[in-house]
Amino acid sequence: MPHQQRGSSQKQSGKQEHRGLMCGIIGYSGPRDAQQVLLEGLQRLEYRGYDSAGIAIVGAEGLQVFKDEGDVAKLMSGMPLIEGHSGIGHTRWATCGRPSKENAHPMVDCDHCLAVVHNGIIENRGELKERLENLGHTFTSETDTEVLVHLLEEYYHGDLRQALKRTLEDVKGTYAIAAVCQGHEEIVAARKENPLIVGLGAEENFLASDITAVLNYTNKIIYIEDGEMLSLTPQEVQIFNNKGEKINKDYIIVSWTAEDAQKGGFEHYMLKEIFEQPVSIHNSLLGNFDKIMAGELLSAQDISSIKLIACGTSYNASLVGKYAIEALSGIPATVELASECRYSSETKEDPLVILVTQSGETADTLAAARLAKKRGQRTLAITNVVGSTITREVDEVFYTQAGPEIGVAATKTYVTQLMAMYMLALKLGKSRMLRRDEIHRYTHGLKAMPRTVANVLAKSEEISAAVDMLTEAQSVFFLGRHINYPTMLEGALKLKEISYIHAEGYAAGELKHGPLALLDADTPIVASCVWDMSYEKMLSAISEVAARDSPVLGIGIEGDRDLEAIVDQAICIPEVEGILSPLPLTVVVQLIAYHTARKRGCPIDRPKNLAKSVTVD
Ligand code: M6R
Repeated sequence: MPHQQRGSSQKQSGKQEHRGLMCGIIGYSGPRDAQQVLLEGLQRLEYRGYDSAGIAIVGAEGLQVFKDEGDVAKLMSGMPLIEGHSGIGHTRWATCGRPSKENAHPMVDCDHCLAVVHNGIIENRGELKERLENLGHTFTSETDTEVLVHLLEEYYHGDLRQALKRTLEDVKGTYAIAAVCQGHEEIVAARKENPLIVGLGAEENFLASDITAVLNYTNKIIYIEDGEMLSLTPQEVQIFNNKGEKINKDYIIVSWTAEDAQKGGFEHYMLKEIFEQPVSIHNSLLGNFDKIMAGELLSAQDISSIKLIACGTSYNASLVGKYAIEALSGIPATVELASECRYSSETKEDPLVILVTQSGETADTLAAARLAKKRGQRTLAITNVVGSTITREVDEVFYTQAGPEIGVAATKTYVTQLMAMYMLALKLGKSRMLRRDEIHRYTHGLKAMPRTVANVLAKSEEISAAVDMLTEAQSVFFLGRHINYPTMLEGALKLKEISYIHAEGYAAGELKHGPLALLDADTPIVASCVWDMSYEKMLSAISEVAARDSPVLGIGIEGDRDLEAIVDQAICIPEVEGILSPLPLTVVVQLIAYHTARKRGCPIDRPKNLAKSVTVD
C-alpha cells in the first residue's frame, strides 16, 4: 500500500490523490513574480511526463501567453521577462491533437482576453465547436480544450466564475480547469475526475494538479473535490459546491518531500501506476468507446484476417487481442513478434496489420510497420503517445489514453492496450456475429471494469503476504489457458523484469510436454483459474503440479471452494465475464511481481539493463 500520510494532519484528513495521470496545472496569485513561480511549478510537474508547456500571465501589459512544444527549459530559453503577479501554467501530454505550439496550453479566446488550461477530455467537443463556429468563434488548434475558452468568452460578462459555471454546464467529459482574464488577479478553477489542489500562503495563493508544484512555497493544502469550483485571489480562496453554494473546507498540513509527492505517496512509480489503472481504464473508454462503435476506426473494410505485431508486454496484449477478436468477431487473428517479422514470408498477407506499442518508438515495431506498408497491407497502430513515430507510419491510430508511464515495467499502458483490444473486437463483432444483447453485456462489463479493478487493488496487502512463497525461489512458472495464457506470460515477464527471478509463462496444457520435469517443492507455481471454458482443465493442471510438491498460488473467482481446496494460497477476484477476466487478473500478477521485487529490495522503477523505450533493433 502507499506510504502516504506521513504528517499528522494528513493522517487526520485521510485525503489522498491517486488520480494524477496526465498534464500538469499550476496557478499563482500574489505579490511574487508570477513568471518565476509558474515556471518553477512547471519544472516540478515535469515528472508527470509532457510534450509541451506554456504560461499565461495577467500583467500591466495585458494578458501575455507563451507556449511551445518541447520541455520547460526550451520554453524558458525563448521567453522575455514578463511583469505580472497572477497567472496560470500547463504541461501538456497530448491526447487530442498532436504535440505542437498551437495545441499547447494555455488556450486563448478570439479577443486574447481570456486564457484557459485544462486536463481531461471534453467528450462533446465536436458539437460545441460547431456551435461556437456558427457564433463566429475562430479555432486555432486541434484540441478539445479550445472549446472551453471560446465557451468562456461567450458567457463572460464581467464575472469569470459565473462564466466558468455556465461553460461547464455545457460540457460533457472530465476536467481540471483554470482560467484567468486580462485586468484581473483572480483565477477561477473547477474539477471533475482530474486532480486539483489549492496551496494557501500569506497574502498569496496557489493552484496545482498536485502538491509537488507548490511545496516550495506552502505546505497548507486544500484538496478540491469533483464538482467543486473556486475563485482564488491573493487575499482569499472561495470554494463552491456543485450547487454554486459557498463552502468551507479545512486545509491539511503536508509533510512530504517533493519526491514523495511526485509518487503520490506511493513507494514506487510502478505501484502508483498500478493504482492509477481504474482511472486509465475509465479514460480509455471515455476517449474511445463511442467514436469507435460509431465507426471512426476500421470503417468500411472487408477484413478477412488480422495480424497483430508487437514486442514484450505489448506482444502479450496482442495475444489477448487475438483471443478477444476471434471470440467476439469471428475474424481469424495471428500474433507475431515484431523482431521476427522481417523473416516472415509474403505469401499469405493479412489485409489488416495492427501494430501495438505503448511508446510508439520501438524500433522493431516501426520496422514491421514499414514492412507492412511496403507489402500494401492496411495498418493500424495502438499506442499511448500522441505524435510518436509510429503514428506517422500507419494509416490509422488508436490512442490508449493511459497517461504518461514512468516505471520501466509497463502496467497501466498494458491494461489500456487490453481495453483497446476489447473495443476493437466489439466494433468488429458488431457488424458480424454479435447480437445486441451480447454487445450490451460486454459493454456493461467494460464499463464496470474500473470498479472491478479497484476491488482487486484493495487486495494489495493480501497479495503482498501471499508472495512470501515466491521471494526465495530460483524459478517460478505462471500457468494459464485460453485468454489467460497471455495474462500469465505477462505475469512472468513482470516478475523477471523487476524481481530478477527466472519466470516462465506456460500454457497449462503444455506442462506434460516438458516443464513437468522441472517441478519440485522449490519451484512455485502461479496459476489462473477463472470460471470460463478452461476452468476444469486448469483445476486438473493445478492438481498435477501440486502432486509434484510445487507450492501453488492460485488466482480465481471469489467463492471458488474447489480451487481453494487444492492450492496453497488463493487470491480471488470478483466474478467477471471470462473473456474480460485478463483485466482484473493482470492487476493481480502485476501486484505479485511488484511485492516480490519490493521484498527482494530490487530497484523497481529502473530494473538493470532495461530501458523504457527500445529504439534500437
Ligand atoms: O513501447 P512498446 O510497447 O513498443 O515496448 C515494447 C517492450 O519493450 C515493452 O513492453 C517491455 O517489454 C516492457 N518494459 C515490459 O514491461
